[in-house]
Amino acid sequence: MGAGAVAAWAASPARAMLQAAGNLPVPAFIDALIAKMTVDEKAGQLTLLPAAWGGGVATALNPPTNGPSFEEQLADVEKGRLTGVFNGNGAEMARRMQTVAMTKSRLKIPLLFAADVIHGHRTIFPVPVGEAASFEPELAERTARMASYEGAAAGIDWTFAPMVDIARDQRWGRTMEGAGEDVLLGELIAVARVKGFQGKDLKANDAMLACFKHFAAYGAAEAGLDYNTVDVSERTLREVYLPPFKAALDAGALSGMASFNEISGVPSTANDWLMRKILREEWGFEGFVVSDYTGDMEMIDHGFAADAREATKLAFLAGVDMSMTSGFYRDHLPDLVAKGEVPMTVLDASVRRVLAMKAKLGLFDDPFRRIDVKREKARSRTKPAIALSREAGRKSIVMLKNDGDLLPLPKSGKRIAIIGPFAEGKHDINGPWVVYGDNAQAIDLASGVRAAVADKGAVSVALGSGVEAPLAGGIEAAVAAANAADVVILAIGEAENMSGEAQSRTEIVIPEPQMALAEAVAKTGKPIVAVLKNGRALALEGAVLNAGAILVTWFLGSEGGNATADVLFGDYSPAGRLPCSFPRSPGQQPYYYNHKPTGRPNPEGALQPYKAHYRGIPNSALFPFGHGLTYGKVAYSELSAPATLAWDGEITVSAKITNSGSRAIEEVVQLYIRDRVASVTRPVRELKAFRKLALAPGASETVTFKLSRAQLLFIGRENKPTVEPGLFDVWIAPSAEAEGVKAQFTLTA
Ligand code: BGC
Repeated sequence: MGAGAVAAWAASPARAMLQAAGNLPVPAFIDALIAKMTVDEKAGQLTLLPAAWGGGVATALNPPTNGPSFEEQLADVEKGRLTGVFNGNGAEMARRMQTVAMTKSRLKIPLLFAADVIHGHRTIFPVPVGEAASFEPELAERTARMASYEGAAAGIDWTFAPMVDIARDQRWGRTMEGAGEDVLLGELIAVARVKGFQGKDLKANDAMLACFKHFAAYGAAEAGLDYNTVDVSERTLREVYLPPFKAALDAGALSGMASFNEISGVPSTANDWLMRKILREEWGFEGFVVSDYTGDMEMIDHGFAADAREATKLAFLAGVDMSMTSGFYRDHLPDLVAKGEVPMTVLDASVRRVLAMKAKLGLFDDPFRRIDVKREKARSRTKPAIALSREAGRKSIVMLKNDGDLLPLPKSGKRIAIIGPFAEGKHDINGPWVVYGDNAQAIDLASGVRAAVADKGAVSVALGSGVEAPLAGGIEAAVAAANAADVVILAIGEAENMSGEAQSRTEIVIPEPQMALAEAVAKTGKPIVAVLKNGRALALEGAVLNAGAILVTWFLGSEGGNATADVLFGDYSPAGRLPCSFPRSPGQQPYYYNHKPTGRPNPEGALQPYKAHYRGIPNSALFPFGHGLTYGKVAYSELSAPATLAWDGEITVSAKITNSGSRAIEEVVQLYIRDRVASVTRPVRELKAFRKLALAPGASETVTFKLSRAQLLFIGRENKPTVEPGLFDVWIAPSAEAEGVKAQFTLTA
């Protein structure tokens, strides 16, 4: 384009619209670049495909696609038909692809490399729901930072994380990928992970662009069935499902992913109300939105679009800037623009967002800034990363019960039988959402226990059962091992492929063959420590529930066995708290602590007729959100709270927390409120603050929290944040259903 044409472009109405489309500071050269692009090249910048290199790592974790060969993909790069690829195979692949983009493509626009770095890259950290159990957002920030340090060195510019979906139904397998059922915890973890991934400077070679997903309400799938219909009120959407996205955005996340599900009849991928009205107009989002995998294509099966062309038009005009996997944008946007069905201005606005992000990531300055094979090796599984994985692992463990102080176990003088399908073996340690971690490098439970005890010969192992099928002679061997031991560690639960994407379960229990094993082992009368593997809350029963001690160990990542041994033998006092309530029965799902009261709550005590409960069981959790024991003896006392909170004022609520036990501990002190009467019904409790407190043996500390009107907001009748004067309950308590200490205050007008 000559200078005159550039000047004409600069003065054109299209450019004015383009600039109005977003406030993201965009380097001037980007507009000039857009002016030079053909429509095909523009559509290419909005097309992300699974990486072809390396035999399909990218599609192994997703429905298989008949993708091109690596050579064909390089040819596409040369033609400018791709913005980048995802789940590729390290710096060498990125180097080869970027070299083609920079030397052979017409406009030399750098490629963007993306990946699902969900809970670690090569060093694997606990699954996100486990890490949320730490109630330590700062930990989530550090593990995300480390994941970027490793991942960005492998050429990855952009991670498809954090997943910030609230999970209120534990049948949903993707519970494992989020922060659980609570909004506040979800927000704080979302912020921490965005900060960790992106670091202080997105241009740095240890920073990855974060992507909040899946926008929105993906976790509200009916009956916990992945991909299923969502039909949720705008009020609940705004009060429960959207806040973690807003928090991620406010923390600086500059990309987002549309969810697979529909909401009230409209698939998110074509939901302009979500993508344009809420995300851009209300929240001022300046980044770009990508479809989830074949989300645009799936609108055909939703019965929302007749064909690929219509799906493209609907998704793109709704505000989904980039298409992942289907290739629909590349194939159909040019024709839609030619026929005037998609305005060029809208196309340019999306291209501009994507190019602006490439600039923000430093790719126009140095397209190879994250691509360095030597650095990739040097930063892989460093000592600090492994140490962090162990720290995060032990902080994620939740002790549900510990009768008679069965735990911690002594390191000598006891014969230990580790029994169950997860006792030994390099499997089910890392977790379900790992693209690059190597199972062979993960520490299993038996190795962790053997490394901790004085006499390795005192440890025996019997698998006893498969995960979902019996093992011939397994129970007999396990019972013999238990009889020959002083204590049993029962390593049971879910395999990693039983949670995660598409892994919904109806019966969220320990599989039957493992229950048979547990019952048989329990008959030996030996003390049992149940060590659970799980990606979701489980309804525990029988011999597992009756075990002397129960540890929830999720999927802890690279150092799983060592982290578990740290807790088992008392090198670390468990401090994790449930981020999702464990129900009494699977049939209670969806169950979450912050439910509404109903008009017929069952009073404390015996079940009463015509009250809200199922036949035979109270409608409370077996182990509620926030529950988790320590090796100390903790008491809550001396609540202090003023009787009134002035409209523009602030009050201090405090309680004394005492550890009268003989071990140093960390206690997660939680503050809950209940709005007694409001113009829309309010939950029976809501978490408003928490603090992790270190307490030496015999020590007491007064924990104080500030409360002001802003924390009492709810989404009112007009679907807008509101707050009303009146009476509030306030608890400082060790869980969402524990009484702790309680008071009331009145918010005055
Ligand atoms: C998942 C996303 C993921 C994408 C790419 C989809 O199936 O829902 O969370 O980022 O695949 O792997």
